[in-house]
Amino acid sequence: MRLLVVCLGNICRSPMAEGALRARLREAGLDEVVEVDSVGTGEWHVGQPPDRRAIACAARNNVDIAGLRGRQLSRRDFEAFDYILCADRSTLRETAALAPDGARERCMLLSAYAGQGEVEIPDPYTGGTPEFDYAWELADGMARAIVGRLSR
Ligand code: 4NP
Repeated sequence: MRLLVVCLGNICRSPMAEGALRARLREAGLDEVVEVDSVGTGEWHVGQPPDRRAIACAARNNVDIAGLRGRQLSRRDFEAFDYILCADRSTLRETAALAPDGARERCMLLSAYAGQGEVEIPDPYTGGTPEFDYAWELADGMARAIVGRLSR
């Protein structure tokens, strides 16, 4: 099983969600079974590490995301991944627009895949520590819910 998390820049929300998912999968002994990656719809931060505020936020939660590097969503991702999980509705719209026929139903909000309905993770980029903490709280809650469901 392969999961791809998508946001706009791939330096804040999706690397935090990737880190949270990897950590919760490892705790559940599922890290060999489920592969996780993240991308951005935008190209600005390709090759860059996550935003230092995202790295710090994850580190406060004992998760290391400093080694991740930005990558842009490409059409190949729709073949390589089983589910394409988006941080918010605008990312989902852009992702679905790029998806080939037959792949669109595998694109959804991360919250929906987590069984939490339609919850957006707000972009913390122009905010500060509270906005990053809130994005982490949402992303980690979704990661825990996903791993809980996959464990059953
Ligand atoms: P992200 O946040 O989508 O959570 O990674 C953003 C990071 C960078 C930009 C926008 C959103 N940007 O415009 O550079």
